[in-house]
Amino acid sequence: MQTATIKFERFQNSADEECQQRILAAKEKLGDRLVILGHHYQQEGVYKHAHFTGDSLKLSRHAADVDAEFIVFLGVHFMAEVADILSRPEQIAILPDLSAGCSMADMANLAKVERSFRELNKVLDFDQEVTPLTYINSAADLKAFCGEHGGIVCTSTNATKMLEWSFARREKVLFFPDQNLGRWSGYKMGIPLEQMPVWDPDQPMGGLTEEQIKNAKILLWKGHCAVHQMFRPQNIIKFRNEHPEGKVISHPEAPFEVCLQSDYVGSTEYIVKTITDSAPGTRWLVGTELNLVNRLAERFKPDGKIVQFMSHVVCECSTMARIDPQHLAWTLENLAAGNVVNQIKVLPEEARLAKLALDRMLEAS
Ligand code: 13P
Ligand code: SF4
Repeated sequence: MQTATIKFERFQNSADEECQQRILAAKEKLGDRLVILGHHYQQEGVYKHAHFTGDSLKLSRHAADVDAEFIVFLGVHFMAEVADILSRPEQIAILPDLSAGCSMADMANLAKVERSFRELNKVLDFDQEVTPLTYINSAADLKAFCGEHGGIVCTSTNATKMLEWSFARREKVLFFPDQNLGRWSGYKMGIPLEQMPVWDPDQPMGGLTEEQIKNAKILLWKGHCAVHQMFRPQNIIKFRNEHPEGKVISHPEAPFEVCLQSDYVGSTEYIVKTITDSAPGTRWLVGTELNLVNRLAERFKPDGKIVQFMSHVVCECSTMARIDPQHLAWTLENLAAGNVVNQIKVLPEEARLAKLALDRMLEAS
């Protein structure tokens, strides 16, 4: 039975503890009509309510597999869009706070990508020579662009594999929006740095000469994650001087020099798994978002594992943090009362083309 939508103002000033009780009660009421997917960067107060946790790849697979009527995404906007695209039409994807975006995803938009496509077409035959490859951290219309132009999506787990997929079809790749993930993945494949120039979408011809474009293997979109950009090679040097036995692990969104000096580089799920599988008493320096690092530090304290954050400044993803117990309680109580709030719905044609690119990734990985 539907009632009038409950306004968020009624939750805004509620204490976390009260919200926890309300979340549990609404979850109980909704039963298996509800699945909550939680990204590793989420704050503890909501993360603990997730039915499934993971990195972007793992959560996309869950979104494609689950049967629940409501898929509530504890993450950012592009993740809820992917859940909507990969789930069945009658399932409903929800983001508890619509302002939870990804600042890196916003560094590329369709107008700029289409302008880049037109400019590259002046010196190349784009659809014959260039595979557009978008990081999953991008809006649905960019995934649709890739679907339409023979391209594909990647995550931080499978970027190298998706580059191989791309090069098996065309000789060049336009990689957006994260230059760091593109550069690190290309480097691991043995592509020289000079064949991976940065394409600046705000400059005519990306700021490159015709020769640079023709010589390029990967054109790296000028975009980055402001959170991971804070990590520095000096953080690693200091750690190694103080703890020569320690290990360093970073997310591939970190700057190239940081990845180069790390012992391990991989997705959030890979970071969780690597530290989980390490021996008791080991010490780790971790270059990724603070909520995840704090969770790992707490979790492994009893095993004598020491998990340290890579930076001396706070690197929290402020948009991930927007999903708090207040927004989750508000969302679930509305669902339990028969009101859908904050549904994420991608336009049908855009969803169809984006799904092409996502399905290519899921098949290839
Ligand atoms: P993962 O897919 O590794 O979880 O990365 C998502 C993300 O946004 C990292 O900043
Ligand atoms: Fe986006 Fe960076 Fe936040 Fe990940 S950490 S969601 S890339 S802004």
